[in-house]
Amino acid sequence: MTIVTLQQWQDLQKHTDTIQHVHLRELFVRDDTRAKKMSRTVGSLYVDYSKNRVNDETLCLLFDLARARGIETARDAMLAGEKINTTENRAVLHTALRVQDNTPIYVDGADVLPEVRRVLTQMRDFTEAVHSGSWQGFTGKRIKNIINIGIGGSDLGPVMVTEALKYYSKRDLIVRFISNVDGSDFYEKTRDLNPEETLFIIASKTFTTDETMTNAHTARQWLLDTLRNDAAVANHFVALSTNEAAVREFGINPQNMFAFWDWVGGRYSLTSAIGLSIMLAIGTENFDELLAGFADIDTHFKTAPLEENLPVILALIGIWNTNFLGASSEVLLPYEQYLHRFPAYFQQANMESNGKSVTKSGEHVGYATGPVIWGEPGTNGQHAFYQLLHQGTQLIPADFIGFIEPLEQVGKHHDKLIANMLAQSQALAFGKTAEEVAADDIPEELIPHKTFEGNRPSNTLLIDKLTPRSLGQLIALYEHKIFVQGVIWDINSFDQWGVELGKVLAKDIYNFFSSEEASGTIDDSTASLARYYKNQQT
Ligand code: F6P
Repeated sequence: MTIVTLQQWQDLQKHTDTIQHVHLRELFVRDDTRAKKMSRTVGSLYVDYSKNRVNDETLCLLFDLARARGIETARDAMLAGEKINTTENRAVLHTALRVQDNTPIYVDGADVLPEVRRVLTQMRDFTEAVHSGSWQGFTGKRIKNIINIGIGGSDLGPVMVTEALKYYSKRDLIVRFISNVDGSDFYEKTRDLNPEETLFIIASKTFTTDETMTNAHTARQWLLDTLRNDAAVANHFVALSTNEAAVREFGINPQNMFAFWDWVGGRYSLTSAIGLSIMLAIGTENFDELLAGFADIDTHFKTAPLEENLPVILALIGIWNTNFLGASSEVLLPYEQYLHRFPAYFQQANMESNGKSVTKSGEHVGYATGPVIWGEPGTNGQHAFYQLLHQGTQLIPADFIGFIEPLEQVGKHHDKLIANMLAQSQALAFGKTAEEVAADDIPEELIPHKTFEGNRPSNTLLIDKLTPRSLGQLIALYEHKIFVQGVIWDINSFDQWGVELGKVLAKDIYNFFSSEEASGTIDDSTASLARYYKNQQT
């Protein structure tokens, strides 16, 4: 049965007609307890969702929908290690990576926690060895540069978190990330480094991803061009992977491999061994705090009633905006420069998870699923794309994310930053009517241009301070939001078959560059482009 035939879905559909054209201005006038009622505090996170086009009844109907879709049962199944990723026959247990107690979690009859803890200890020991200088390069030099080579989930999480927590990082260690198969990425990230002081982390769940393997082989050659001894690889390469055979074949000693497991999805893997670059950057204690932050929200998600459950609330508001108000994108607006890669990280997490058009049983969905996720830090975005948010024709729900205490008090910058954030959400919600514009005594013909319709939804997250713990809480909040939406939409949020076709076709086209004949998989337009590319090369 498709979800659109559910009574709860149809009730929401009907309710849409009654509320669709009610302005947020009116909703606030009607209920002066709204801001208080529609906000929640969990851990360091204070979330205000009152600037959404919902009333008490909308929320009630959304919670009814969540119950009808069995959110609690689905959540418990995930947390218990059931194989909810059905197309890959895998459990989905990123929560086991940060669980703080020892209650066993079983996959195929074995408790996964002892292995999780073993790898964490291995990561801590390695980090201490690099920091103390007891892990040395082949020529006895101290490691000063760490380069993580990975892509997608094996890159974006570590990049985002090391940037977010730069304030806490060991400033004497250079930590860089190479992801793109574009050689310029490799060139720019290595051109000023001494191979004798450089450690490469090859991060790949499968250890077969072409971009990563190409960069890893180039790194090996770059190292050996200077050190001229295959034995040097052992001092300068470690691997993060689930594929021990491939790691060994690459020439990395499995002793220098940090394992994880098929029940850790790539885009949910930053708390696994994939986080080694993060641990190296911020140290073991900060990494533990990060894990504890994730665990705070995991516990909240597991135990809070739906009406109090922040990931559930944000997920349902997203469903309302997407499926009933017709929004097709969501913008993430961190008012914190350290979070400048946060939107990019959740672009993958969200779009690779919920960019699906068939249900778990393989039928076409027939309703909208995951929105386009994008964003940039404020205030920069204000001078770039906010014009469209305020006066464009599309409805784009926004999440504003700000911190109460700055990490460094620089003049009055922080108050200005947060004043801007609050002003933007106010302007989006309440706008400025033609009457208000006219009262400013401006030429008649400019009134329509200066009018702000308002009624544009947003959530505002105010967080105590950017710490490893609060960052962990923030990430886990969005992770579980994605999960809840996937359950409502009846899609598998944990596979990613949509990325496969391009990979296969790229191989055929790459082969065509060095042969006369285009393979049958290459269409006429693409073959012409490939020929032009080949022929124009000097
Ligand atoms: O792009 C597809 C994908 O499989 C992502 O899901 C994943 O995060 C990325 O490639 C990298 O994969 P791997 O860690 O196996 O190299």
